[in-house]
Amino acid sequence: MNDLPDRLRELLLDAGYTIDGVRERLGEVAATALSREETAPALRATREGDLLGTLVRLWWLGVPVDAPAALPVADLAAAGLVTAEAGRIASTVHLQPWETGGYVVSDRKVRPGDPALRRDHVVGAGGASANLAQLVSRRPVERALDLGTGCGVQVLHLADRAREIVATDVNPRALELARLSWALSGIEGVDARQGSLFDPVADDRFDLIVSNPPFVISPGGRFTYRESGFEADGFCRDLVRLAPRFLAPGGTCQLLANWLHVGGEDWRDRVGGWLTGTGCDGWVVQRDVQDPAEYVELWLRDAAEQGTPRYGELYDDWLGWFASMNVTGVGFGWITMHDSGSLDPVVRVEEFGQRVELPVGGYVDGVLGSIARAHRLADAELPGARLALADGVLEERIGPPGAEDPARIILRQTRGLRRSAQVGTVEAALAGVCDGGYPLDPLLAAIAELTGENPDDLRAKAPEALRPLIAEGFFHISTG
Ligand SMILES: C[S@@+](CC[C@H](N)C(=O)[O-])C[C@H]1O[C@@H](n2cnc3c(N)ncnc32)[C@H](O)[C@@H]1O
Repeated sequence: MNDLPDRLRELLLDAGYTIDGVRERLGEVAATALSREETAPALRATREGDLLGTLVRLWWLGVPVDAPAALPVADLAAAGLVTAEAGRIASTVHLQPWETGGYVVSDRKVRPGDPALRRDHVVGAGGASANLAQLVSRRPVERALDLGTGCGVQVLHLADRAREIVATDVNPRALELARLSWALSGIEGVDARQGSLFDPVADDRFDLIVSNPPFVISPGGRFTYRESGFEADGFCRDLVRLAPRFLAPGGTCQLLANWLHVGGEDWRDRVGGWLTGTGCDGWVVQRDVQDPAEYVELWLRDAAEQGTPRYGELYDDWLGWFASMNVTGVGFGWITMHDSGSLDPVVRVEEFGQRVELPVGGYVDGVLGSIARAHRLADAELPGARLALADGVLEERIGPPGAEDPARIILRQTRGLRRSAQVGTVEAALAGVCDGGYPLDPLLAAIAELTGENPDDLRAKAPEALRPLIAEGFFHISTG
């Protein structure tokens, strides 16, 4: 019985119940229809009665099937994964292959017409889970914390780079299903603890804290899987303010968050204010903003409440609650904090919606490093600094055809965050020659000679012109 997870994993892999196997079996049309909550094409694609099709129906689509001879039905029923009756079995959970190669066990997503969600619903791995997973630094760590582990999916991503993992959730049922996810994914030794926020880890320190928290901002806190019951965006705020106490020196905390846009207040001040005084360097990125109506519709749809008798009332209550707080929108984004030990921490709050190179976790430490380096670089250090143009930066010159000089020069990153910056001729000239070989001062002197500018003027303007380009990763300061 204890080897059930291993036997089941082997059986699932042999049957091709993997991300690629399911994708191939369903095909583009059925998979896209499923993302619109339409199951008919997927049911057609899996009606042949073979093992893979049956597994997809059972654990992905959630429909009862004739028990395949290959499945250890009695053991699965004893483990609470299926119910069995007269040769037919029905799943009690959603069991999905995940991109790490493991499996995630959760409750099934509700679709329109399904019974109402249970309060202790455990949400499956989805877009937000993948979003956080790709953001998290790839740096190996000793101790990691996944706060609000739910179905346990973040642990699947951390397992190969954290020596010890603690996973917490306020919902005991989430920990139950998360343990199944880890067992089915061959992950051992996760320390699962029940409790709210940082209560279960009061005396601990971590090198990495990750959280896809219950960030949804709603009046009632009706569903634990997405809402904390804290006032407005207070859960994300408290998470940010408390996290540094639980970081080991040099540690990093990364989370997804929602925040309010309130009339008369700059959202940057609101979220930046959460980080101010934490002692950590911070990087906040707003990836999207929704108006109040879009936001309410999204989350009513998420709980399949559109079309129910209470839809209009819930929608109106939620909107009225937003209006009472003068809410004009809700921002969604990423927060990264790093305990650098500096007495002069920096917090950068910015907005960008453009596509970035994935995974961000592959270069996020560098992004934060550039922000901190630029902030802490004294003006007097700059002339002696050896700048190197970052890999993949291209220059675009835009202007009327035939004109001798361009109207605008743009430096564009083709890697990483794919930022672009309009620059002057001096920065563009520097970009052409900066390879970390020479200190800045003689390069500025040479450029002044070429352009006929006064070298002292260039030196005086350099900190203001170059600091943003260093912070945004166009230039690195070479240590060579
Ligand atoms: C959006 S789910 C995230 C699940 C999973 N970590 C992921 O990345 O998909 C948020 C989780 O936070 C949990 N949660 C809600 N309130 C909490 C609290 N006060 N303290 C800790 N966890 C909480 C919920 O039970 C839920 O499992």
